[in-house]
Amino acid sequence: MAEEDIKYPVPARLLDPAQCPEPYVKSYEQYKEMHRQSIQNPDEFFGKMATELLSWSKPFHTVRHGGLDHGDTAWFLDGQLNASYNCVDRHAFANPDKIAIIYEADEPNQSENITYSELLRKVCQLAGALRARGIKKGDTVAIYMPMIPEAVVSFLACARIGALHSVVFAGFSAEALRDRVQDAQCRLVITSDQGKRGGKSIETKKIVDEALKTCPSVETVIVCQRTGAEVPMKEGRDFWWGEECSKRMTYLTPEPMHSEDPLFLLYTSGSTGQPKGVMHTTAGYLLGAAATVKYVFDYHPGDIFACMADVGWITGHSYIVYGPLTLGATTVLFESIPTYPTPARYWELIAKHKVTQFYTAPTAIRALRRLGDQWVEGHDLSSLRVLGTVGEPINPEAWHWYNDKVGKGRCAIVDTYWQTETGSHIVTPLPGAIATKPGAATVPFFGIDIAILDPVTGKELEGNDVTGVLAVKKAWPSVARTVYGNHHRYLETYLKPYPGYYFTGDGATRDKDGYIWIRGRVDDVINVSGHRLSTAEIESALIMHQAVAETAVIGAADDVTGQCIHAFVCLKPGVSNHSTDLSRELVLQVRKVIGPFAAPKKIYLVEDLPKTRSGKLMRRILRKIIAGEEDSLGDISTLADPSVVEVLINKVANA
Ligand code: WT7
Repeated sequence: MAEEDIKYPVPARLLDPAQCPEPYVKSYEQYKEMHRQSIQNPDEFFGKMATELLSWSKPFHTVRHGGLDHGDTAWFLDGQLNASYNCVDRHAFANPDKIAIIYEADEPNQSENITYSELLRKVCQLAGALRARGIKKGDTVAIYMPMIPEAVVSFLACARIGALHSVVFAGFSAEALRDRVQDAQCRLVITSDQGKRGGKSIETKKIVDEALKTCPSVETVIVCQRTGAEVPMKEGRDFWWGEECSKRMTYLTPEPMHSEDPLFLLYTSGSTGQPKGVMHTTAGYLLGAAATVKYVFDYHPGDIFACMADVGWITGHSYIVYGPLTLGATTVLFESIPTYPTPARYWELIAKHKVTQFYTAPTAIRALRRLGDQWVEGHDLSSLRVLGTVGEPINPEAWHWYNDKVGKGRCAIVDTYWQTETGSHIVTPLPGAIATKPGAATVPFFGIDIAILDPVTGKELEGNDVTGVLAVKKAWPSVARTVYGNHHRYLETYLKPYPGYYFTGDGATRDKDGYIWIRGRVDDVINVSGHRLSTAEIESALIMHQAVAETAVIGAADDVTGQCIHAFVCLKPGVSNHSTDLSRELVLQVRKVIGPFAAPKKIYLVEDLPKTRSGKLMRRILRKIIAGEEDSLGDISTLADPSVVEVLINKVANA
C-alpha cells in the first residue's frame, strides 16, 4: 500500500476511560454528524456553542449576518462581552489559585507560575496604566515583546479597555516594526528592556527606539524590565512598567464590547510588498480559538496546554493566549529555543510540567530528529495525549518520529491547517475521532464548508481524488473581517479571486478517502520554518541596496526549514559582481529591513533574469533551475533572451 493510503487509527488508549478523559468526539460518525449540523444549521450549532463557551454581559439575538458574498461577515449580533473577562475574571472568580500561566524562562531553573487571580490583578493594573496614558476604546497599541508573562498581560489589558493590540513579532527589525506601527497609527508601544533567547540578550528597547524615530503617532512607550539592563529612556515618552502599574488599582471594570468590535490586528505577508493588518473581532475570534482548543486538542479541565509558538504570530495569539485562557486552562509560555541548553529542552519541559497537549511546527520536529533520538529518550512523556503540528505540511518521516519517539504510539497527532486570516484551525483531525494519515490535514473543522476549486475556471471540483485550490464556501465565526484601513484589499485578496468563496492561497488535494492534503501556496508567498514571507517584500528590501538593479526571490526546498529563500540579484552596471562581501551585505540588508528570520540562504549575483518579451519575470523557470528540474522548464521560446537560461543553470550548479 502506498504511504498516503495508510490510515493510522485513533490510539486505543485515548478511547479507554480508565486511561484518558473521554474525548468530546469519539468516532468518525459522530464527527460527520456534528459537522453536518454545523453546516446545515450554523445558527443553532454556533449559537449553542457561543453560549456554552463564552460569557456574555448582554446576550446576542442574531447568530449570523452577512458573509463572503459582500465581505460583511458578522456573528453574534447585539451581544456584548469582553475578551479579558472571558480569559481571566470568570476563572479568577471560580478558581483563584488555579495556574493560568506557566512561564518557562530561558534559563530552565527560572520558571514561574501565575495564578488566575494574580493574572487578573496584573491585567487590571496595566489596563489602568494604559487608560491613564490616554488610551481609549478603539485605539491601537503595539506590543513588541519577548516571551514573558507581561506579553500576555499586555494582550489582555488592551482587550480589557477595548483597545486593539497589534503584536509585532520581536524578531522583526526596527524598519519592519516602524512600518507596522505607522500603518496602524499606534498611540502607544509596550516593550521590554531586553529579551533573552537561548542564553543571548536581544536589544528589544533599542530596536523600538530606532523604529520610533519616524512614528509620530506614538505618544507613550511602556517598558517592562526583563533583564534589568540599562536602557535609554526618553523623557516624557518612556515609562517603566513597574512604576506605571503599581500606581493603579488591582481591579478595573472590563469595557463591554460588541461582538463585532475589533479585538486585534496582526500583520501578515501577502503577494505584494506591503504587509496587511489582518483584523479579528471579539466574539467570533474568541469562539474559534476556544472551540478548537476544546475539540482539536480535546482539552479537559486539569490539562496542561503547551504551544511552543511565539506570541508574535497568530499561533501564539490563539493557542497560547486566547484559546486556552478562554477555557480556563493552564497555558505554558516558553521563552527559550528547543536546543537550549540542550536539544532535550522540549522533553524536559513536558516531563517537568506534565504537559498533556504539545503543539509545535514541523521544522522544529525535523531539526530535533536530526540531532538524534538520545535527546528524547529517558524523559517521562507519559502525560501527553495530543501532539499538534502547524505551519506547513509535515513530511511522513517527521510525522513518524513525532508519533513514535515523542508520542510512543499512544498519542493523537493533529496536523492543524489554518492561517492568520482564519483565526483558528480549519482543516484538522480530532484526537478521538479521526484516523490520521501522515502529511494530511484530514477533515474540515465544524462550520468549515470546504471546497477545492479548479484554479482557472473557479469551478468547484466535487467528489474525491481531486486537486485544485483550497477555498471555503461559507463564513465561519473566526474568519478575519477586514484588512486594517483597506477593506478593498481584503475583498481583492480573499473574496474576489473566486466570488462567493474565501480563497486560502493554498493548493490542496482531496484524496480518495476524502482527506485533505495541503500542497503549499499557489501565490508568491514563501514558507520558511512556518513563517510566512512574501517574495515581493524580500525583493523590495534587496532593491534598496545601492548596488542592486533588479532581483527575483524564490522559495527553494529545504530539509529543515521546509522552504528557504534563494535570491537572484542583478547588479547595476559597473558594480563588480565577484565580491563575497557584497552577498553578505545583501543578506544583512534583508535582516535589517525585515528581520533575521527572512535572511536569504543563497544569493546568486547574475547578469540577467529570465523575462518574457513584455518584461514579465518568469519565476517558474528560476524555481525549476533551483529544484534541478532543467529538463522540464517548459516553453522558454517566449523569453526575450532564451540564452539566459543556460547561464543561470551553470551559475546555480557552480554556486
Ligand atoms: C500558511 C498560513 C496559522 C498557522 C501558522 C502560519 C501554511 C499552515 C499548515 C499545515 C500545511 C500549513 C499554509 C497557510 N500552513 N498550517 N498544517 N499544513 N500548510 O500562519 O503565517 O498565516 O501562514 O501556512 O500555506 O496558508 P500564517
